[in-house]
Amino acid sequence: MSFDVCVIGSGPGGYVAAIRCAQLGMKTAVIEREWLGGVCLNVGCIPSKAMITAAHFLERAQHDAPTMGFEIPGPVKVDMKKLRDWKQSVCDKMSGGVAQLLKGNKVEIIRGEASFKSAQELTVKSSSGTTSVKAKKYIVATGSRPIEIPGFAVDEKNVLSSTGALDLDHIPKKVVAIGGGYIGLEISSYLAKLGAEVTVLEATQTLLGGVADPECVQVVARKLKKTGVKVHLGAKAKSYKSEGGKLKVTADVSGKTETLDADKILLTVGRKPNSDQMNLKGIGLAIDERGFIKVNAQRQTNLPHIYAIGDICGQPMLAHKASHEGVLVAEVLSGQNRAYDVRTVPAVVFTDPEIASAGWTEEECKQNGHSDLKIGKFPFGANGRAVSMMHTEGFVKIIADAKTHIVLGVHIVGPEASNLISEAALAIEMGARLEDLALTIHPHPTLGETMMEAAEAALGHAIHIIQKPLSSRPSANA
Ligand code: NAI
Repeated sequence: MSFDVCVIGSGPGGYVAAIRCAQLGMKTAVIEREWLGGVCLNVGCIPSKAMITAAHFLERAQHDAPTMGFEIPGPVKVDMKKLRDWKQSVCDKMSGGVAQLLKGNKVEIIRGEASFKSAQELTVKSSSGTTSVKAKKYIVATGSRPIEIPGFAVDEKNVLSSTGALDLDHIPKKVVAIGGGYIGLEISSYLAKLGAEVTVLEATQTLLGGVADPECVQVVARKLKKTGVKVHLGAKAKSYKSEGGKLKVTADVSGKTETLDADKILLTVGRKPNSDQMNLKGIGLAIDERGFIKVNAQRQTNLPHIYAIGDICGQPMLAHKASHEGVLVAEVLSGQNRAYDVRTVPAVVFTDPEIASAGWTEEECKQNGHSDLKIGKFPFGANGRAVSMMHTEGFVKIIADAKTHIVLGVHIVGPEASNLISEAALAIEMGARLEDLALTIHPHPTLGETMMEAAEAALGHAIHIIQKPLSSRPSANA
């Protein structure tokens, strides 16, 4: 089999690249060893959002519905098997959609495990045999996998990865989650809402360290506590043993050895690129010390006919960054003048409430030479739509350069933060000023008004919070 382009991996990087290559007239194949749509659609972003939505629904039925005047006689029962089936139907729908899109664009789908036989040829092994695939150009989009730590081999029985935690047919009574990052907190929140007693062990002194604005993290930490999730910071998980069907986790908590009981352990201590597979080193592909394939702004590797996109070629390991790179490489291959040149890759943590960010934190602004900042904060508690939804926790924070008013960072913690952040990403990409956000009419009553009001707050005159009169402040006419 021979193609213009062969994409290896069909996750949000690979399938998007394959579709755009086909749209641009290239004879394209995509090779997949597991599921179409990759980790994201099958065991990552999509199933976790399904379970988070379901858990949120239950929480609302239990806590918000009675306040709104609904009487629910007795406790709401959870049928985990049905919930799991529903979650699976969501994934199947999405993965089936990818298959249809690929077929509709005449992309050849090859099932099996690919490996480079030489820099010019792939061998693909599947249950039906071994085939050889040749292409003029290759796009490596084979993603990442969870990291394991000594003492906690993932068996999906005692020690669960995110894959196992999203496929439970019952709610474990006690869960110890190792790692207070993106995945640990998203899954811990969902398990706690469904009734598990969850304890999070985080090795560092902060949850979501380095990935979220510290003030936003505080709001989520408070809600975790309210939901019953216990958090131990400075807690390093060391080992575990199984005694009569019960698990005993040993951890070093702030220098003291502690033992915690668990029915399941969730291991979420990060992910690593799959660059040790496919004989990538054997064909001479340059890989950095963290395991990422080295690429240039066109996502081209040191072997000029091989490109790499998504988790395998660097941080942030996020689906939307992979898709962006997929389109970019396809357009580069068709001769267009494209480069990876983004000001921001927005990020969302689907905790409760959600945290979403685009651009720099205050600390990063200072590190990048912006010491004089204008910062505006607007609380969801002062937004009519948030109040009517009974979701008033959190705020929108906008950080801008004090002199130019150019928006440098937006950090949101609150309802629908994930959907609100796109406006911020556009603002940062376009070099918008605070006035651009403040003077754009935002429809009422919507959560989106918080963005406009945060920009107004940074300028000193938000309407729905009390700020010092402009005339009393020296910077008012600046
Ligand atoms: P992470 O890197 O976000 O967090 C791992 C945490 O584990 C860190 O805080 C680390 O200090 C802690 N840790 C490491 N060893 C430990 C030990 N022995 N004991 C206790 N704590 C320990 O990794 P995570 O959550 O596994 O996510 C991996 C990646 O997947 C993220 O970087 C993100 O790019 C992606 N992702 C994105 C999501 C989204 O966009 N909403 C959702 C989930 C994952």
